[in-house]
Amino acid sequence: MAKIPVIIDTDPGIDDFMMLIVGLAHEKIDVRLITTAAGNQEQDKTYENALRMVSYLGKDVEVARGLDRPIFKELETAPDFHGETGTGKVLFPDPVIEGSQRPAISAMYDVIMTSDEPITIVTSGPLTNVGMLLNAHPEVKFNIKKISIMGGAAMGGNVIPTAEFNIYADPDAAELVFRSGVPVVMSGLDATREAYLLESEIEAIREIGTDLAEKVYKMLKFYQEAAEGSPFNVPYFEDVVRLHDACAIAYVIDPSLFRGNFYYVTVERASPLTAGTTFVDYLNTLDMQPNAYVLYDVNRDELVNLFFDALHQY
Ligand code: BDR
Ligand code: CA
Repeated sequence: MAKIPVIIDTDPGIDDFMMLIVGLAHEKIDVRLITTAAGNQEQDKTYENALRMVSYLGKDVEVARGLDRPIFKELETAPDFHGETGTGKVLFPDPVIEGSQRPAISAMYDVIMTSDEPITIVTSGPLTNVGMLLNAHPEVKFNIKKISIMGGAAMGGNVIPTAEFNIYADPDAAELVFRSGVPVVMSGLDATREAYLLESEIEAIREIGTDLAEKVYKMLKFYQEAAEGSPFNVPYFEDVVRLHDACAIAYVIDPSLFRGNFYYVTVERASPLTAGTTFVDYLNTLDMQPNAYVLYDVNRDELVNLFFDALHQY
């Protein structure tokens, strides 16, 4: 089977780790490069976490350090949900792989320009690296098949009432991505809200009995407890654990797990109240050509199966 060549840009991050577990295990996916975004934690930490996670999973994939801060905004991290380290209270061993010699944007540029088939980019953090790549090197677009992002929300945010964290963290970068002309698939909260794990499934992870399963269990429990105490523990955001980031890679593996529609999406950047909101024009008020395929539903059971299949492969 021909594999899909993929670059992953991520800010690990608890659910980012779950995404990496799926992406690095799946037979359909050929991860050519991993780059790190500042988001859930500072760049020093997300980069270190990515190196440790990839090493721990026994993979030898280039990991390149991304930009330290959003394009214009000040960096806002999410320690309440991901811990001071970005991995809850779980420790990963020192990495055995070395970090890349080249910065993320140079590495992405080289991988895309030298690939004999178009690259799919999967993102699970703020879009700083990818937005800057597209802005600085628009010539890469010819060889990008699509950009599958976890980010945004047509309805209901998780950091302010209207905005999702990854877009809120760097709205300018996100707008560069939506405006780029490259096909964008948006796994926003509309879909990822449904990507939850039942309590019985969280317990079943522990029962797998591997060191990885134990780490995953502890990280998910940390995430769950963080949600319990959060102001988002309201109907939209009950204290269940969601595999937000895994949706972005799952769509690439099997788009039939999702339902979506083509819409025009632009990012609000000026308003002091709603900056970082994805304005998904499902009413076609702006009469613009669609620029994104916006997911609004996921087959939860199949997504969870995909995750368990991946966990069993390590
Ligand atoms: C997103 O925000 C981050 O905290 C998670 O890792 C995920 O990428 C969900 O809004
Ligand atoms: Ca993330």
